[in-house]
Amino acid sequence: MTAQLIDGNALAKTIRAEVAGRTAALKARGVNPALSIILVGEDPASQVYTKHKVNDSTQTGLEATLETYPADMTEADLLARVRALNDDPKVHGILVQLPLPKHMDSQKVIETISPAKDVDGFHVASAGALMTGAPGFWPCTPHGCMKMLEAIGYDLRGKHAVVIGRSNIVGKPMAMMLLAKSATVTICHSATQDLGAITRQADVIVAAVGKLNLLTADMVKPGAVVIDVGMNRKADGKLAGDVDFDGVKEVASWITPVPGGVGPMTRAMLLANTLEAAERAAK
Ligand code: GUN
Repeated sequence: MTAQLIDGNALAKTIRAEVAGRTAALKARGVNPALSIILVGEDPASQVYTKHKVNDSTQTGLEATLETYPADMTEADLLARVRALNDDPKVHGILVQLPLPKHMDSQKVIETISPAKDVDGFHVASAGALMTGAPGFWPCTPHGCMKMLEAIGYDLRGKHAVVIGRSNIVGKPMAMMLLAKSATVTICHSATQDLGAITRQADVIVAAVGKLNLLTADMVKPGAVVIDVGMNRKADGKLAGDVDFDGVKEVASWITPVPGGVGPMTRAMLLANTLEAAERAAK
C-alpha cells in the first residue's frame, strides 16, 4: 500500500482563504481583527516563528503587531504589558512567544492573558473548556490535526486513536479532541512499555514527541492514518518528523508529510482563532 498524502499546505490555504473572507466581512462592520504578539529575548527560532505569524496574519487581512523586548525584561513588566493588552478593546488575540527567559514563570504569564484573547489556547481556562466541551480556544497544533482528519472525511467514532506524547500543548489537548469525536483514545509517553504493541492496535496515530524515526513501519497497522507532529533536524540539515515517512507510507492509508503537513496547519489555526476572538468580541 502507498498512503495518500494529507497536504497541510493545500488545506491551510483553504483555511486562510476562509479566514480572509470572514475577516473582510468583519472589517466591513468596522471591526479590525487584531493579534498582538510579544517576543522577549532574541531566540533565533522564536524570531523566525513570530515573523511568520505576523506575515501570515497581514496576508490574511488581520492586523498583527509584534512587540519585542530585551531578555532582561522583568516579569512584572511583562505581566503589566499583558494586562494592558487584555484591557485594550482593539486587541482580540494575545500571543506570548515561548520559551520565555528563564527568570520568568511561563505559566504565570500565560494565566495572565485573558481567556477571551488566548488564541494559543494555553490558558488553564482554555484547557478546561476543551476538556468539558465549553466554548474556548483550542491549541493550534492539535486543532490543525483535527482539521486534517476532517478534510479526509475520517469518522473517528469508535476508532482507536493513539497519541504519542503528553505535552500540554499537543498530546493532552489532542487526546481530548479525539475523545470528543468518540474515538477510543490511548496516550503513550516516555514511560510507555512496548510502544509498538499499542500503536499496532491504532486506527489513527498522532506522533508528537520530537524524536526522529520514533514510529517505524512495523509499528503501524496496515491502513492506519498517521499524523506526524514532530519537527526534527536530520544530520543532513533537512527537516523530518517523528515518523519514518518512507517506511510508514507503505503501510498507512493516509499520512502527513514533514515539512508541509501539520506545520502549516498550526499556523493557519492561529489565524482562525484570532478571527474567532474578534467575532466573539463583536457579538
Ligand atoms: N513557541 C513555539 N511554538 C509556540 C506556539 O505555538 N505558541 C507560543 N506562544 N510559543 C511557541
